[in-house]
Amino acid sequence: MAINVELLTETFQRAKAENGGLHSLGMRFYQRLFEKYPAVKPLFSTPPEEQHKKLMASLSSIVAALTAPDRMLPYLRAMGIRHLKYKTESAHYPAVAENLVAVLSEHLSKEGVWTDEMKAAWEEALNVVASVMIEAADNPEKYTAELAAMGYQADGFKASDPEPWVLAGAKA
Ligand code: HEM
Repeated sequence: MAINVELLTETFQRAKAENGGLHSLGMRFYQRLFEKYPAVKPLFSTPPEEQHKKLMASLSSIVAALTAPDRMLPYLRAMGIRHLKYKTESAHYPAVAENLVAVLSEHLSKEGVWTDEMKAAWEEALNVVASVMIEAADNPEKYTAELAAMGYQADGFKASDPEPWVLAGAKA
């Protein structure tokens, strides 16, 4: 199935506008994640009040750059490499994706509709995001070399970038 850019963009715009916006979506994400998947809680040291802003900024960047794979791929690969440091395992990705789709469903059902098509669009997109991050985390030497030419350090950060979770130039 191809990535449904239109539906992902439309639902993300709604997520920002409805039911308390990205603050309530992001806070609910971590609340449900830690309830349903308590094993991942110890990996997080940043409190949800801060962490949710990074995740939501990252999702905004991803949605804004859906039609720009040239910018998106290095961004996701660098993030996959950074996640090695956070002790993330590939087996955690389905849990995070399940959790995000579930909280989006709750969020968007409050003031409007949530359809099977929307669910499929988000599942498909998160599957691609996870595959790219996992592929980079599984082959850090290969991708570190490629990313270095774009200014990324071996740990997936850019020295000059105070907010690595925001994709430069992506307009959400
Ligand atoms: C859809 C895929 C994912 C996205 C878009 C995402 C996004 C982010 C972002 C933006 C950060 C902030 C730090 C940085 O940019 O390096 C972060 C940190 C982190 N992520 Fe993810 N992530 C994803 C998947 C996962 C998975 C599967 C796990 C496993 C449980 C995970 C665990 C963590 C942890 C532990 C941190 C560090 C938290 C801290 O500072 O205490 N992430 N993630």
